[in-house]
Amino acid sequence: MEIVRQIENLLGGDKVVYDEESLVRYGQDETEDFVFKPQVVVKPETVEDVSKLLQWCNANQVVITARGAGTGLSGASLPIHGGVCLSLERFTRILAIDEDNMQVTVESGVINEVLRNAVEAKGLFYPPDPASKGSCFIGGNVAHNSGGPKAVKYGVTKDYVLNLEVVLPNGEVIWTGADTVKNSTGYSLTQLMVGSEGTLGVITKVVLKLVAKPQHDLLMWANVDLATDACKAVSEIMRSGVVPSGMELMEKKGIDLACEALQLSNPLTPSSNAALLIEVDGNDLESLYAECESINGVLESHGITDVLFADSSSQKEAWWQIRRSIGEVVKHHSVYKEEDTVVKRSHLAELMYGVKEIGSRYGFESVCYGHAGDGNLHVNILKDSLTDEQWNGAHLEEGIREIFRLCKRLGGTISGEHGIGYVQKRYMNEVFSKTHLNLMRSIKKAFDPNNILNPGKIFD
Ligand code: LAC
Ligand code: ZN
Repeated sequence: MEIVRQIENLLGGDKVVYDEESLVRYGQDETEDFVFKPQVVVKPETVEDVSKLLQWCNANQVVITARGAGTGLSGASLPIHGGVCLSLERFTRILAIDEDNMQVTVESGVINEVLRNAVEAKGLFYPPDPASKGSCFIGGNVAHNSGGPKAVKYGVTKDYVLNLEVVLPNGEVIWTGADTVKNSTGYSLTQLMVGSEGTLGVITKVVLKLVAKPQHDLLMWANVDLATDACKAVSEIMRSGVVPSGMELMEKKGIDLACEALQLSNPLTPSSNAALLIEVDGNDLESLYAECESINGVLESHGITDVLFADSSSQKEAWWQIRRSIGEVVKHHSVYKEEDTVVKRSHLAELMYGVKEIGSRYGFESVCYGHAGDGNLHVNILKDSLTDEQWNGAHLEEGIREIFRLCKRLGGTISGEHGIGYVQKRYMNEVFSKTHLNLMRSIKKAFDPNNILNPGKIFD
């Protein structure tokens, strides 16, 4: 309680929360069913507040973990060592939309969708759109290098971050780069911060690049007998010269659960075990129809003939809603472990086949879905009837290790867009040598010599 009193004196009581209900709420994110209560939740309002707080924590060796909206799937914002939870929920201002230079500057607690709507009103477009876009914060997107369905055409968060205001663990405030589209000025601290999961500094402002808003989009839903057939078609579509703005794969169980939960009619036919959701966007409608024709041709050549076209914006929204809600509805159905596997796109079918084969050997069921165009498959391993011992035991961990070893063999790695955080760090040795991990540790030490900022994440 001494800590609470001192922080209240430092920042004012209205920025400090420590009732039991709040501690439980801020002690979790969307990762499995973990709860790690912080000692206190602090809600700063200005960068000066953040700076004072970090300086105080650093001087007093108090552990502090920054938190965005708590939508993370790797546990990066879980306060696993207690201490202070620094919530950026009051950093909600859009500071400037620079239409001439196609840039936006925001505070890090702005919700992804609030940002996209604000820039769309000016004919501009911020593409990265994680499934949680309605609630996740831009700062969290930067900290995880978030992706989403549009990444297949437009890239991920790192491709849009130009400059960041960051508070270092000792309280100093820096800007990491410049507000320019090009920058070759020493090590890129901007890109180092992207994906650093709150371990190096606290992001308070973000300058993002924007693109012109495409005027039209078309959406196709293709039912497929086998998910592996769909995976094979995906690579060929990408090679055909069309770049879809979305190329998503969903297994039947995910679609069924989503349609049931959302009370939407299910586009899947009884013989289909999966579906592809394919979007194209651009300014010339005629060319978009031609692109759909060409995609259809590739699908047909893979025996995929049951293809539906969305004929209204509400139809499009419904299909996207099905896709976006899969993670959430699967979680509602059963606690799950989310493995964010990613391989070279052409190996997606092998990955899918391998995941099922490993599952049958280790005795777990999985629901797979994700960004097929990026070779990024979310594997949701269901707890279902597994006992707590089985769920937390060495056998399941070994099964997951096998999945990750397969990813590595297929040219991939253990996370495409959800990060490492708390739950995946034990698997880092599958893809990185000791030398590599020690380099990462040295970087952490250079930023945070006292190890106060989100310790125990990414690596031990
Ligand atoms: C999705 C999130 C889980 O693609 O990444 O739905
Ligand atoms: Zn995803």
